[in-house]
Amino acid sequence: MNRFNNKTAFVSGGGSGIGEAVAIELAAKGAKVAVADINFENATKVACEINEKGGHARAVRVDVTNFESVEGAFVDAEQWYGGSTEILVNSAGIMGVHSFIDYPADLFAKVMAINVTGSFLCSQRAAKSMVVARNGRIINVASVSAERAGIGRAAYGTSKAALVGLTRQIAMELGSFGVTANAIAPGPVVTPMTAASYNPDTIDAYTSMIPARRLGLLEDMTAAVVFLASDEAAYINGVLLPVDGGYLASGVAKTGKLS
Ligand SMILES: NC(=O)c1ccc[n+]([C@@H]2O[C@H](COP(=O)([O-])OP(=O)(O)OC[C@H]3O[C@@H](n4cnc5c(N)ncnc54)[C@H](O)[C@@H]3O)[C@@H](O)[C@H]2O)c1
Repeated sequence: MNRFNNKTAFVSGGGSGIGEAVAIELAAKGAKVAVADINFENATKVACEINEKGGHARAVRVDVTNFESVEGAFVDAEQWYGGSTEILVNSAGIMGVHSFIDYPADLFAKVMAINVTGSFLCSQRAAKSMVVARNGRIINVASVSAERAGIGRAAYGTSKAALVGLTRQIAMELGSFGVTANAIAPGPVVTPMTAASYNPDTIDAYTSMIPARRLGLLEDMTAAVVFLASDEAAYINGVLLPVDGGYLASGVAKTGKLS
């Protein structure tokens, strides 16, 4: 199954959680993967794990909010691949939970900077060579929070809705160059980002609202990203693909007896 043999991929947030799983899966399917993260120690661990299994990975230090850092990270990755970036996965993100009334303005700006501006800067940088190559895949890791408000998500939900808007803008402008931009909307998945805020009650609450009656798994997320990154997805552009066990499709979760 070397679906991505000779393909190059840059995964932001590749040092942890969904980005880590995506980096490992793309490499397992043959891609040369730049594991890009502000946490270089974690990125290095993930790249080592991939290389020890016979894959091809390089840890790249990046702060996605900083133009020079993004430029440097892409130059580093592209010198290592010996080519340009063909697949970009924007998974770097933070949550920052606070009530709306008390939401600190500096944290709001930080969430927007990482989740939105970071994806913009990486997508813009990657797109420059994708347009020349007339081929490219950009996959943004949005969230069900883009579509459904949640307590404490004033910045996070707003940032993810903006990321979906950005995805559509890129799709619209780059579609004629053979470049697609799509987003996935994961439902809740246990990762370092969410683990601290989940307790048995939150997990029960989520599970009761998800038709599949379980949280998402990392492999659910990687399957969707792999598909959107593939040649088979060439005609899918500008979509938000929920990977949420039916959460966004559902309404009232409890009802009386069905006849
Ligand atoms: N876990 C979930 O339930 C869930 C649900 C929906 C969407 N998401 C989204 O999935 C993505 C990954 O989340 P996760 O759960 O894997 O979290 P995570 O915390 O495990 O991973 C996020 C990674 O982003 C990196 N990062 C943060 N700021 C950065 C910056 N400025 N530059 C570069 N890297 C930076 C972190 O170091 C970390 O490695 C996020 O965009 C998140 O919003 C997660």
